[in-house]
Amino acid sequence: MQQKTRIAPSILSADFAKLGEEIVAITKAGADSIHIDVMDGHFVPNITIGCGVIKSIKKYSDLPFDVHLMIAPVDPYIAEFAEAGADIITIHAEAGVHLHRSLQKIKSLGKKCGVSIVPSTPASALEFVMDIVDLILIMTVNPGFGGQSFIDSQLTKIKIVRDMIDKTGRNIDLQVDGGINSETAKLAVAAGADVLVAGAAIFKGKIEDYSNNILSLK
Ligand code: DX5
Ligand code: ZN
Repeated sequence: MQQKTRIAPSILSADFAKLGEEIVAITKAGADSIHIDVMDGHFVPNITIGCGVIKSIKKYSDLPFDVHLMIAPVDPYIAEFAEAGADIITIHAEAGVHLHRSLQKIKSLGKKCGVSIVPSTPASALEFVMDIVDLILIMTVNPGFGGQSFIDSQLTKIKIVRDMIDKTGRNIDLQVDGGINSETAKLAVAAGADVLVAGAAIFKGKIEDYSNNILSLK
């Protein structure tokens, strides 16, 4: 069942020079979780942050830390991210051969597990992990950078995955990530999404604007 829309600000668009303050501000502004984009310059063409940064920002918010790993290989680092403060660990179906094993590993560490698929990957890639995932993340841009444009063809995929989730009867969050603004948010929610990740649309203007920026997506 689709749930009430929740907003996960992506700190990729925050001011990295004052990340602690930004996280406090976004928490006060009404975020539902903190989305952290980890990129390795190999699986995606950009390098961002790692476990050390996550560990040091954890104290700035009690919201769940939703860590989106865009790295390959992923298995050698899962325990480290769990230890650093991730509450939800999302990995890419395309990042390795043994997706199911990686998800089992995340679960064994007591964390929620998510699977993300890039725009070119079909929904069917998720079929045999539906019994284990807690979250599915449909990328609506090619991962690597904030501020890109929403890829409309992904709306069809969101609808397909909504049906797949509803058929399981399990409580699986359907998250979308990339190019979310007040217009595309409506489309994504109408297609069945219940968690919207947004970077550029939230971390814009002054700190005092963040709560309105969040509201404009709901
Ligand atoms: C892209 C990241 C996204 C990104 C979203 O690879 O996974 O989380 O930061 O940024 P916007 O909302 O600016 O598209
Ligand atoms: Zn992300």
